[in-house]
Amino acid sequence: MVEVSISLLSADKENIVKIIYDLEVAGTNYFHIDVMDGKFVEKDNTNTMRQYTEYIKQIANTKSEVHLMVEDVESYAKSYIDMEVNCIIFHIESCKTEKQVLELISYIKENNIQVGLTINPKTAIEKLYNYLPYIHKVLIMSVEPGEGGQEFIEGTLDKIHELNVYAYENGLDIDIEVDGGINDNTAKKVVEAGANILVAGSYIINSGNYKEAIKKLKD
Ligand code: DX5
Ligand code: ZN
Repeated sequence: MVEVSISLLSADKENIVKIIYDLEVAGTNYFHIDVMDGKFVEKDNTNTMRQYTEYIKQIANTKSEVHLMVEDVESYAKSYIDMEVNCIIFHIESCKTEKQVLELISYIKENNIQVGLTINPKTAIEKLYNYLPYIHKVLIMSVEPGEGGQEFIEGTLDKIHELNVYAYENGLDIDIEVDGGINDNTAKKVVEAGANILVAGSYIINSGNYKEAIKKLKD
C-alpha cells in the first residue's frame, strides 16, 4: 500500500497552520520536515522547521518524519528527539565513519524514534547495505537536496529497483521512500520500481486540491 509524506518546504509560511490542518484533513500519511543547516546544503531553515514541528505537534495527529540535511547530525537529532517526532532520517554523507552511522542509529532508536538513512543522487545504493538490518526506512533522493520544485532524476529508478531486490533477497522488511520531483507521472514509475512511500512537496502544495492530488499519487 503506497503512503504519502508531504514536504512543507514549498508551503507558504504565512498560512502554514491552515496548510498543516488542511493536509491532515486531506489524508496525508506523514508530514515530511526538511531541515537544512546552511552547511550540508546552502539554505538554513532550522528555525522555521522547528516552528513547523511545534505546530504539527499542537494541531495534528499525523506522524512526522524529519529529513536532516545537516552536518552535525547528533545535535539536530537530539533537538528533534526532544520534540518527539516519529522518525528521524539522516544522510550517510554527513558521517565520516561507519561507526558514526551505527552510533547515530542506536542513539535515535534508544529514544524510541524510528530511524531512516538517506543518500544523495550520486551516492551508490550499496553504501547503505551494511545498515539495512538496523533501520526502518531508506529515503532515496531523486533530486539534489536543498530545495523543492526540482525535476525528478530518472536514474533514481535503477537504485530503487536494486534496493528492492536486495531487500527481498535478504529478507529485509524496510520502507523504501523516494524524495524529490514526485508527481502523478513519476509516482507510478517509482512505485513500479519498488517504492512504498512517496515524499511530495510542490505537486501537492501547489495543486489547489490536496485530497485529489494525494489520491492521484496513491492510485
Ligand atoms: C529537497 C527535500 C525534498 C523536497 C521535495 O531537499 O528533501 O523533500 O522538498 O519537494 P518536491 O516534491 O517539490 O520536489
Ligand atoms: Zn526531504
